[in-house]
Amino acid sequence: MAKVLVIGGAGYIGSHVVKALMKGGHEVCVYDNLSTGQEVNLFKQNRFIKADILDYEALVKAMQGQDAVIHLAAKKAVGESMENPMKYSTNNITGSLNILNAMVEAGTKYMVFSSSAAVYGMPKVEVIDESVPTEPINYYGFTKLEIEKFMQWYDRLKGIKFVALRYFNAVGYDEDGEIRGREVNPQNLLPIIMEVYEGKRDKLKIFGNDYPTRDGTCIRDYIHVSDLASAHVLALEKLMSGMASQSLNLGTEKGTSVKEMVEAVEKVKGCKIPVEYAPRRAGDPAALIASAKKARELLGWKPEFTDICRIVKTQA
Ligand code: UFG
Repeated sequence: MAKVLVIGGAGYIGSHVVKALMKGGHEVCVYDNLSTGQEVNLFKQNRFIKADILDYEALVKAMQGQDAVIHLAAKKAVGESMENPMKYSTNNITGSLNILNAMVEAGTKYMVFSSSAAVYGMPKVEVIDESVPTEPINYYGFTKLEIEKFMQWYDRLKGIKFVALRYFNAVGYDEDGEIRGREVNPQNLLPIIMEVYEGKRDKLKIFGNDYPTRDGTCIRDYIHVSDLASAHVLALEKLMSGMASQSLNLGTEKGTSVKEMVEAVEKVKGCKIPVEYAPRRAGDPAALIASAKKARELLGWKPEFTDICRIVKTQA
C-alpha cells in the first residue's frame, strides 16, 4: 500500500487513475484546482485539496507523508498551445517544476507522469516505439517532452524515480459508470461524434479523406482510459520496487480510422452520423500506432479494451 498524491485527480484521466489506485488498495489524496477537473469526479473516501500547481507552498504541504506523486495536471489543447504558449509554459512547465521541487523538499521519491504521444511529432514510421526520435510539432508536445527531460535531471541530481507514460489517443469512460463527469467542450474525435449523435452538433467534419490509408482517413491508436489508469498503478508499484526511470508508450497497438470510428458509433447506437469531408487539418500525421512492447514487458501491462465497439459503449 502506498500513499499517493494524485495531482489532477479530478480530471478525465486522473479520476480513472484514482479509481484504479483505490482498487489496488492504495491511499489516495487528490490535489486539483478544478479548472477543468470536476467535483463530481471525486470519490468521497479520499482526501481532497483544492489548490493550484503554481502554489508551491500548497504543494510542499500536500506532499508531506506521501510516498509518491501521480502528476496529470496540465493544459492539453494542441491548437490553444500554438496560440497561447505562455499558458502552457506556465501551467505545464513551471507547474511541473514546482512539483519536482516540492518533492525534493518533502522527500517524496517517486513520480508517475502523464506524457503524450505528441512528443513524437510527425514520425516517419507508422508504428512508434520509444526509440523513435522525439520531435514535437506543437507547443503542447514540446512541454511534455521538456518535463520528461527535467525528470531525467531530477533523477540524476536528486534520485527522484519516474515513469513518463506517453498516451496515444485516450478514449472512453469507466465501464461501471462510477465516473460521471464529462469533459466540457471536448476537442477530440470520439466525444465530438457523440455530440453529433446527441444533436449538439449538426455533423462531423472529417479532416481529410485523401490520406494514404485503407479508407483515406487518418488512423490513430485509441486506448481506453481505464487501461491507461491500470498502467499508472503498475508503473507506481514497479517504481517503488526498484524499477529504473522510464518513458513508456501506452496504446492498443491497433489502428482505427476516422471512418471506422464513425461506423463503430453507428453500429453501437443504431444511428446514422452525418459527416462532411473537410480539408486536412494542419499537423495531422496519416497514421499513428503505438508499440507498447516496453510497457507490456516492464509493467506486465495489457490493455483490456481492444474492441472499438466496447470502447464506444463506455463513451456515452
Ligand atoms: N478528426 C476529425 N474531425 C474532428 C476531430 C478529429 O476528422 O472533428 C480526426 C483528426 O483529424 C485525427 C483524428 O480524428 O485524424 C483524431 O483526432 P483527435 O483530435 O481526437 O486526436 P489527435 O490524434 O489529433 O491528438 C490526440 C490528443 C493529443 C495527443 C495525441 C497523441 O488530442 O493531445 O492524441 O497521439 F497528443
